Amino acid sequence: MAKTYGVISTKGGVGKTTVAANLGGILTDMNQRVLIIDADFQQSLSNFYHKQVHQPKN
Ligand SMILES: Nc1ncnc2c1ncn2[C@@H]1O[C@H](COP(=O)(O)OP(=O)(O)OP(=O)(O)O)[C@@H](O)[C@H]1O
Ligand SMILES: [Mg+2]
Repeated sequence: MAKTYGVISTKGGVGKTTVAANLGGILTDMNQRVLIIDADFQQSLSNFYHKQVHQPKN
């Protein structure tokens, strides 16, 4: 069964994004299937991961 975790604080800059990124990484290392959704327009969570964009040939 899927579980949903939220990392929430009303205060800015306290480490929410860092915790979310590392929590996702740890759960992945534990062979869990993880979907992390970055809803922040600054895309700071997405920037934790290398983007691999493959352009189709021709
Ligand atoms: N455990 C920690 N120890 C030291 N520095 C940390 C720790 N966790 C996060 N930081 C640093 O604190 C800063 C803010 O972290 P982060 O961006 O994760 O916070 P945030 O709560 O997501 O911020 P925002 O409210 O802007 O989204 C970053 O520079 C990050 O590297
Ligand atoms: Mg953040």
